[in-house]
Amino acid sequence: TESPNFESEKITEDAKIPLRDETEAIRRPALGPKSELITYPFYIANKPLYPNSDLDVKNKYTGEVFAKCALATPKDIDAAIEAAEKAFPAVSAMASFERKLVLEKVVTEVTRRVEEFAIALCLEAGKPIRDARGEVQRLIDTFTIAAEECTRISGEFLQMDISERAKGYQALVRRFPIGPISMISPFNFPLNLAAHKIAPALAVGCPFVLKPASRTPIGSLLLGEILSQCRLPEGAFSILPCSRNGAELFTTDERFKLVSFTGSPSVGWDIKEKAGKKKVVLELGGNAACIIEDMVPDKQTIVNRIIHGAFYQSGQSCISVQRVYIHMDIYEVVKDALVEATSGLVKGDPLNEDTFIGPLIDESEAKRIEAWVEKAVSNGARILAGGKRDGSFYDATILEGVRPDMEIHCEEVFGPVMELIPYDDFKPAIAEVNKSKFGLQAGVFVRDINKAFYAFEQLDVGGVVINDVPSMRIDSQPYGGVKESGLGREGIKYAMEDMSEVRVMLLRNVSQL
Ligand code: SIN
Repeated sequence: TESPNFESEKITEDAKIPLRDETEAIRRPALGPKSELITYPFYIANKPLYPNSDLDVKNKYTGEVFAKCALATPKDIDAAIEAAEKAFPAVSAMASFERKLVLEKVVTEVTRRVEEFAIALCLEAGKPIRDARGEVQRLIDTFTIAAEECTRISGEFLQMDISERAKGYQALVRRFPIGPISMISPFNFPLNLAAHKIAPALAVGCPFVLKPASRTPIGSLLLGEILSQCRLPEGAFSILPCSRNGAELFTTDERFKLVSFTGSPSVGWDIKEKAGKKKVVLELGGNAACIIEDMVPDKQTIVNRIIHGAFYQSGQSCISVQRVYIHMDIYEVVKDALVEATSGLVKGDPLNEDTFIGPLIDESEAKRIEAWVEKAVSNGARILAGGKRDGSFYDATILEGVRPDMEIHCEEVFGPVMELIPYDDFKPAIAEVNKSKFGLQAGVFVRDINKAFYAFEQLDVGGVVINDVPSMRIDSQPYGGVKESGLGREGIKYAMEDMSEVRVMLLRNVSQL
C-alpha cells in the first residue's frame, strides 16, 4: 500500500538526493560521537563568532547533547542591531541583480548540502528524515521564489487629475525597503520558517537580525554560514540564538522597523503589545479543520492526505489537521479507513528511512497532550486509535465524541491528535469550523464548485484548500491567519510588501515646456 508519507518520498526522488553515507554531512564532527561535539558560531554583522559554547543542542530522539552553539547576550544583540542600522543604506542600495545573485548562491549551496541540512534538522528537531529532506527542498523553493521576485519589484503610475484642485498632477508610486527587521523563528520548521523571513528581506533590501528557536538553532546557523560567504554589505545580517530573558530587544528596540514572529499566540500577541511603533507580522497557531463533503478524488487519497496532514512531524505544524468534519453518509467508512491507516504508521528513530512518527520537541509537550486527551476521555470522548505516551513520543491518535469546550477541540494541540465529527449539512458544518477562535487554513474535499466557492467566501481563515488538507502550504502563496492566528501574510511576494513602505512622488505640470 502507498505510504501516507508520499509527499516527502516524491521530493526525495525528484531531487535525486544522494545516499546519506555518500555525503560530506555524515563525516562532520557535529554528527559524530559525543567526544567530537563542535560549537557552532553565531553571526554578528555577517561574521561567525565563537565567544562561548553555552547553548547545548540535544538530539531530540536520544536526549543527548550532540552540538553546542554560541549564545548571545543583550550586548551582542545590541551590536547586531547597530550593525544592521548602519548597513541599511548599503543593503537597500544593492541592485536587484546583486540581491538575486545572493539568493541564487544560497539555492546552489543548499542544493549541494541537502543531506547535511536534513540530518541537522532530523537531530535537532526530531523530524523524520523524509520530512527533513522535504523541508530543505522547501527552503530551496523559498529562496528560488525570492530570487525571481526581487527582480520584479514594480510600482504604479497614477493619473491624479481627479478634480479641479488636482488638475495637472500625476503620480508615481514605488516601494522602498522598510529598514532593519527583527525576526523570531520557531522550532517546528527550523529552516524553512527562518527562510520565509530571510529570503524576502534580502529580496527587498532590508538588513535583519534573526533569533532562531534555542532548541533548534542549527538549521539557521548553517544558513548563516552560507550567507557569510555571500557578497552582502557588512551588517546585512546577524543570527543570534539567545535565551528568552536576553531576547527583549528583538521586540522593543526602535531601530527595528518591523518584527516578524512565528510561534505561539500568547508570545505573539505579547510582542504586538510591546512592539511600539514598528510594524508587526505574526504567524501564530491554529486548530485547523478539514471538511469531507464528498469522496474526491477517492477514499484512499483522502485518507492518505488526512493521515499526512494530521500526523506528519508528529502534528507539530500550525496547519496540522485537528478537526475533521465528515458527512454522515460516508462517516463510518472514512473513519474505519483512517483508523486502519493510523495503525500502520512507523514510530521510532527519525533517522530511519521508514519512520513516520518521531518524538515531540520535548517530553513536557507529550505530557501536555496526554493530559488533554485523558481529560477529554474522562468527559466522554472515545479513543479510536493511539492515545498512549512513551517519553517524548505520543501516538498518532484519533478521537470521536469530543465536546466543543474540550481543549482537544478548541485549543491548538500541536501534536499528533485529530478528532472526527459527523455532520449532515454543509452550511452548518462551515459555521462550526468558523466557531474556532483561530483562523489559519481550512481544507474542504468537495465535488460541487458552488459549495467550493461558498466555502471560500464563508470560511473565516487565511487560506481555503479545496480537495486537500489545510496542512498544504505552497511557499509562494500568501500564508497567514485571521483572529488569534495572526496578522499579516508571509509568502515571498506578500512578505516583501510588509517589508517595504509605499512612497508616492506627486508631479505637477511636469509635461509643460
Ligand atoms: C507553520 O507551522 O505555521 C508552518 C507550516 C508550513 O510552513 O508548512
